[in-house]
Amino acid sequence: MKLIQTQHKNTMLKTVTLWVLAHVTLASIATVSAIGADNPRIELDFNKDWRFAKGPQPNAHRPAFDDSTWQVVRLPHDWAIAGPYEPRGNPHTGKLPWQGEGWYRKQFVLPQAWTGKRVYLDFDGVMAMPTVYVNGAEAGGWDYGYMSFRVDVTDFVRFGQTNVVAVHVDTRPHQSRWYPGAGIYRKVRLVVTAPVHIGHWGTFITTPVVTDAAAEVRVRTTVENHMANEQLVSLETTIVDPKGKQVGKRTDQLRIAGSANAEFDQQFTVRNPQRWDIETPRLYRAVSRVRANGKTVDIADTKFGIRTFKFTPDDGFHLNGRRVQLHGVNLHHDLGPLGAAFNVRAMQRQLEIMKDMGCNALRTSHNPPAPEVLELCDRMGIVVWDEAFDKWDRTATRPDNVPIAQHCKKQLYNFIRRDRNHPCVVVWSVGNEIFDLEGGKIQNGVALLRELVEFVKALDPTRPVAMAHCIPESANTPLDDSLDVVGWNYARRYALSRKNRPWLPIVYSESASAYSTRGFYQLPHPTRKDDYSLALRVTSYDHNSAYYSDIPDTEFALMERDTFVAGEFVWTGFDYIGEPVPFVAEGWSSFKKRKLAPEEESRISLFGIVDLVGIPKDRFYLYRSHWAPEKKTVHILPHWTWPERVGTNVPVYVYTSGDSAELFLNGRSLGMKSKDPTATNVMDRYRLRWEDVVYEPGELRAVAYKAGRKLGVAVVRTAGDPAKLRLTPDRSRLVADGEDLCFVLVEAIDTRGNVCPLATNEVVFDVRGPAAIAGVGNGDHHFPAEFVTNRVALFYGKAMVILRTEDGMPGTIRLRASSPGIAHAEVTVRSTAPPQKQR
Ligand code: GAL
Repeated sequence: MKLIQTQHKNTMLKTVTLWVLAHVTLASIATVSAIGADNPRIELDFNKDWRFAKGPQPNAHRPAFDDSTWQVVRLPHDWAIAGPYEPRGNPHTGKLPWQGEGWYRKQFVLPQAWTGKRVYLDFDGVMAMPTVYVNGAEAGGWDYGYMSFRVDVTDFVRFGQTNVVAVHVDTRPHQSRWYPGAGIYRKVRLVVTAPVHIGHWGTFITTPVVTDAAAEVRVRTTVENHMANEQLVSLETTIVDPKGKQVGKRTDQLRIAGSANAEFDQQFTVRNPQRWDIETPRLYRAVSRVRANGKTVDIADTKFGIRTFKFTPDDGFHLNGRRVQLHGVNLHHDLGPLGAAFNVRAMQRQLEIMKDMGCNALRTSHNPPAPEVLELCDRMGIVVWDEAFDKWDRTATRPDNVPIAQHCKKQLYNFIRRDRNHPCVVVWSVGNEIFDLEGGKIQNGVALLRELVEFVKALDPTRPVAMAHCIPESANTPLDDSLDVVGWNYARRYALSRKNRPWLPIVYSESASAYSTRGFYQLPHPTRKDDYSLALRVTSYDHNSAYYSDIPDTEFALMERDTFVAGEFVWTGFDYIGEPVPFVAEGWSSFKKRKLAPEEESRISLFGIVDLVGIPKDRFYLYRSHWAPEKKTVHILPHWTWPERVGTNVPVYVYTSGDSAELFLNGRSLGMKSKDPTATNVMDRYRLRWEDVVYEPGELRAVAYKAGRKLGVAVVRTAGDPAKLRLTPDRSRLVADGEDLCFVLVEAIDTRGNVCPLATNEVVFDVRGPAAIAGVGNGDHHFPAEFVTNRVALFYGKAMVILRTEDGMPGTIRLRASSPGIAHAEVTVRSTAPPQKQR
């Protein structure tokens, strides 16, 4: 038996020590040997040492069940991402085996000394339909794969003994238009409290009045009394400013009857408040200390922000008193080769890449995100359209026998209470494209929507409630009368809404839906936006979109003109698994030029501004040049390696934050081009195009100017044959916590260091030291391979390998990449012990 000591932070910045006893054959047992002296609340990471098996497992809920042959897994876990890839599987959900049932089991010990405490299991998300058993008895479950939920297991656990939790997961009734993942795909916590404690998501902080001189902060706190008799309870709340200074404190007392809850309502005035804003996302904290009969029984910490915002009908979105154009993206919940298994670093990286592009807003399409997504947006200054549902039909796994209103309210209750303290959240969305509702097919649909909107407002009166629409004519009905903000998807469909309800603020909740394949350039150009190449790839000259939508430039022009709209949320920031239209044989928006065989279909979307592994497509620079004009962007496309086109035409585009550029081919000027804000062809307003360039190998150089001053230079050169591999890690220092990741870009380069833009070499990886490969990918939307393996083919010269550190094992990690016939590459990164380690 191995004894490993690990650390777990509780909410009060205090560390408790958890001893994990790992056994080679038995599931591990976790117990806490020392409780923090100050805080009776203990929140434990409950993600390690689970056992997992797919398929029906009769009697797996029983404690004595033998799970010794099951796979040992660490949560978050997505059982389907490792494949096997199903070449003839459903492309709309990524040709992965997500549909089925599975079981998770874990043993844990609760010390005898905890007898009398409350014990809860907090699940952030289980896909789908989980049933939770504790010591053989059904303790709870949930019916929406994207929502967080708590199971009160107090009556089912045994103190001083080994307990067994078993979770049955069933995705068979779930339908999806994208890859949903499968399993306990977000974190789990074991929460142990005294019988008198702050309720789950029981703190609600609002800022009813905010001026530069002072902000009123209102803190409402629900305290639960699980004792049979009345308790005299006091709540001391301390407000701490972004620098850690105490700026408010008050204590109130209430008598709470036995087996009842009570709400404290406390007000504070914070002088000279520091605003939460996009550039300065300053966060305050409220520290709540509960005492019962004079003894501290609970301490909790809640972050919040002080800001004002409003959606206006005529002037878009205002934050802290000024208009802010929303440069938003939609993101689905998968993390590319990591699947749906949530990982903080992978998400942070996605948001960093988006922010670098000038993005300041996120729509959590089309479901509640992992809670950490909102924590990241709070910290990074990204405003969020927080969305509860897509369609109200079975795609959201609504159980057949539960009426829509009942199901939605149950989810919204958790959703709003969970997310309501995040300053980043500026709008609640109760749905995306609810066809039946918009088409008038749901009985009493107008009343139903009103009922849900009012339900949300009762839980949080401080934020507007919205819904995203796609059927313009629904604006002719009373449907939207109950909304505070309306989202419209694509093609200026908001026009009728603007005409009929000029008082209703509008957000362009989905724009663009442009397609492109990183690295692929179709010549001659497509004739229409929905003329897609027979190569089953989409041109990176950025001429294509879905038939119902538009290229980015069209949307830029609309947003510049229609300033009553708060801004756009592009569909999508990243490519995601599934929904790989148009290259599907069947279904909406399928390829029309010929019928595709199953093996020819894609499995990854093409909508992303960056590809599935985070490598920017050319479009990234188009957005960056327009959304972040203060940054220097000069980007040339395409690559300049066209051996078969010598003497023929290869157009050249420059995406720049400048207003003009001069292009040189092998030192000869091909002329100066300037953006023309009034051009009839909308592309010429935002990009610089030299359509008539005759290809010759060599060097292309663009020199960009802004207001007559040189802004910068970009160069591309003709590449020779691949000579060696190159590895570029995104970070050189990692944390040895078993979760931290390193994304390593893999490229083939020629003898002079030019990236070979057509290389398809097969690369094999070898990792030495305390890390493992978490996934690989290359941005190919067909990707006929596995994501969790040690090899990948380069796609247009590039691929990505993702390393994950080993828990508790600092050291040097060496990655070697090799490919037959060319020189290998090696890179070293360091994994260091997590900070705050106390032994
Ligand atoms: C929208 C829908 C999105 C996605 C997108 C693709 O209508 O809301 O979920 O399917 O189309 O263009």
